[in-house]
Amino acid sequence: MAKGTPPTPTPPTARRSPPTTIESSRDRERLRTVVFPEHSDLAAAVAERIIEVIQRETRAKGRAVLGLATGSTPLGVYEELIRRHQAGDLDFSHVITFNLDEYYPMTPDSPHSYHRYMWENFFEHVNIAKENVHIPEGVTPRERVTEACAAYEQAIRAAGGIDFQLLGIGKTGHVGFNEPGSDATSRTRIVTLDTLTRRDAAADFFGVENVPREAITMGVATILDAKEIALLATGEHKAGIVARAVEGEISTDVAATFLQRHQSVTVYLDLPAAAELTRIKTPWILEGIEWTPAMVERSVVWLADKSGKAVLKLSARDYAEHQLSPLLAPARARRFGGSHQRPGLQSATREDSGTRQAARARARTRVLAPSG
Ligand code: GLP
Repeated sequence: MAKGTPPTPTPPTARRSPPTTIESSRDRERLRTVVFPEHSDLAAAVAERIIEVIQRETRAKGRAVLGLATGSTPLGVYEELIRRHQAGDLDFSHVITFNLDEYYPMTPDSPHSYHRYMWENFFEHVNIAKENVHIPEGVTPRERVTEACAAYEQAIRAAGGIDFQLLGIGKTGHVGFNEPGSDATSRTRIVTLDTLTRRDAAADFFGVENVPREAITMGVATILDAKEIALLATGEHKAGIVARAVEGEISTDVAATFLQRHQSVTVYLDLPAAAELTRIKTPWILEGIEWTPAMVERSVVWLADKSGKAVLKLSARDYAEHQLSPLLAPARARRFGGSHQRPGLQSATREDSGTRQAARARARTRVLAPSG
């Protein structure tokens, strides 16, 4: 579509069926989190949300403003957006973009630059206007960096603010390049990269010594100004930091925790990246879970591991101390496959050895043959 032509929203073709997600108690989660067993469903769901935002905003105000991220995590989203554009469903001629960050110093034509990444992986495959693309400049002379960062903030404001911000997360918990120590008021600026971040990037640069020591990044406050935010994480190497960001206290130690102060954030995870969330790792400590046979088995293996005992050596006290007393309750109260509220501690309060033995015997038979 030629530039300046009003967008004509076209009904998307080849829509997928709604993705499967893992649903369960979210008691501990401080951010709305969606877990996808199928990796490709995650990219499709995020792309679908971006398409909705683009169509809604271009209809409402003639343009849509996206905040974009680099790294391996969003590649599937870009692929899906390109696919939808090539299918004729999606017009980028009224889309304005602002990227989160760029290494410093970094020439735009370097194979390591985020400029090159964005053009090769996304922009050159869609009808976005070059002047609508904004990425911090890694070639700005040092004495002009502060001014350039202020101009970047001003350009975001002039565009009317970011409608939808896409984020990945680094192992330090950074969003953009907001490393530990970044606070909630930080704006676009030059930052020093964390050692862990540089080590993670070492393979791409053929050695940690070649990874730039600095970067220019949007600040935490810049990110929190976006109307809607999507944080994406995939892979087991992200599981620990994801759990910290989703379930942990807000802290400058983990910039992603500041997202908890935003009204409209969704965390999109594949199963490996969700592995350390309580609802995936130890769901039995949450209220109102469903005791399926598979859950019983996992919880008992976990308890044995945690207590350093063989399964048959676990006592009623072990079960009670780890919120697993429901396994010792009469089977009808446990109701496999049905929704279940904890029946209460039946054995833990009676710690005479006879009771313990009886409880153990019940545990043995029920846990090992949970057919009741
Ligand atoms: C870099 C980028 C971040 C990105 C992170 C994770 O540090 N500056 O914006 O989120 O990498 O990258 P990946 O998606 O490859 O794990």
